[in-house]
Amino acid sequence: MDTKIIKIDPTSPEPQMIKAAARIIRKGGLVVFPTETVYGLGANAMNTEAVAKIFQVKGRPADNPLIVHVADPLDIIPLTKDIPSLAEKLIEEFWPGPLTLVLKKSALLPDIITGGLDTVAVRMPDNKIALDLIVEAGLPLVAPSANLSGKTSPTSLNHVVDDLFGKVDAIIDGGDMAIGLESTVVDVTLSPPVLLRPGGYSIEELERVVCPISIPTAIHADIGGSAARSPGMKYRHYAPEASLVLVEGEESNMTEKIQILAEEYAKRGIKVGILTTKKNRFYNAAHLNYIGRNPATVAKNLFRALRQLDSQGVEIIIAEGIEERGLGLAVMNRLRKASHEIVLV
Ligand code: TXA
Ligand code: MG
Repeated sequence: MDTKIIKIDPTSPEPQMIKAAARIIRKGGLVVFPTETVYGLGANAMNTEAVAKIFQVKGRPADNPLIVHVADPLDIIPLTKDIPSLAEKLIEEFWPGPLTLVLKKSALLPDIITGGLDTVAVRMPDNKIALDLIVEAGLPLVAPSANLSGKTSPTSLNHVVDDLFGKVDAIIDGGDMAIGLESTVVDVTLSPPVLLRPGGYSIEELERVVCPISIPTAIHADIGGSAARSPGMKYRHYAPEASLVLVEGEESNMTEKIQILAEEYAKRGIKVGILTTKKNRFYNAAHLNYIGRNPATVAKNLFRALRQLDSQGVEIIIAEGIEERGLGLAVMNRLRKASHEIVLV
């Protein structure tokens, strides 16, 4: 398939470019567009065939439901039922932004979006191109992250091109994503609401408005590859090509263990990379990738760094664990899901 790349100015999107992309969506095509979190693979939410193409192109299991993106909070009224007042409070405070709410679904939405569930996830992205596109299409858009299923979400154009060029009708080039990690997903059909995926808004921020939000233990648990405790949880996600080894624990033990592991692998002729929050070549290894110190910076750099190490042909990536504070909770959730092995020190 011919994939058109449409470059659009993120600060003042050119109306004719937005129109061209919206036309493709209305005809049932797939258009990758930027949001504030990661690039999304968009289609008309009301068109069953277009939504089916999303699952097919990504290789996504049919029981993994999609998020419906809107350009105005009022747009969720026809799509949902029984909006609780705490959802209204969250919307008032946090939309547009990286917060996805799971609500009761109305009969209007095709079942394919939600894999037969009676709920639907909705969000209003904080990105001018995304909002203009939704308004111009005159439709809500379903959009999963624009990566092949199981891979890390794309945070810049080249990631999208690597995964989806030739498989979609158009890709909007909207530059690098501001947050770099997916939205926070909260189920507000339950009381208290339940965190389903930590993401771009921290739980501390959300709880300033609605408290408490319950955090299932699986959010912290290691449900990656061989580290999984139960075979049913053996489900790697957000994964680089390389094997990921996550080292968690007290700072000095952690750094010592990482250096030892890196040297052991190198001795065995394995090409090893390290994801580090320490500057100035703290470790002695060929492929160091510094991802910043504070949790928001780490969140922004994480997926890019994993893809960079892959492109350098690294076979094993060793990652430092960080504190589960602020966006650190989302970072650790992604790292644990991506890891083959978790080393506790
Ligand atoms: O930041 C984001 O949310 C990005 C951008 C493109 O908006 N989208 C994104 O979509 O990350 P996706 O499809 O990669 O992840 C959607 C997540 C999945 O974990 C899915 O299981 C969950 O939301 N989800 C969607 N609908 C749900 C529902 N009805 N109930 C529970 N979880 C749901
Ligand atoms: Mg995804």
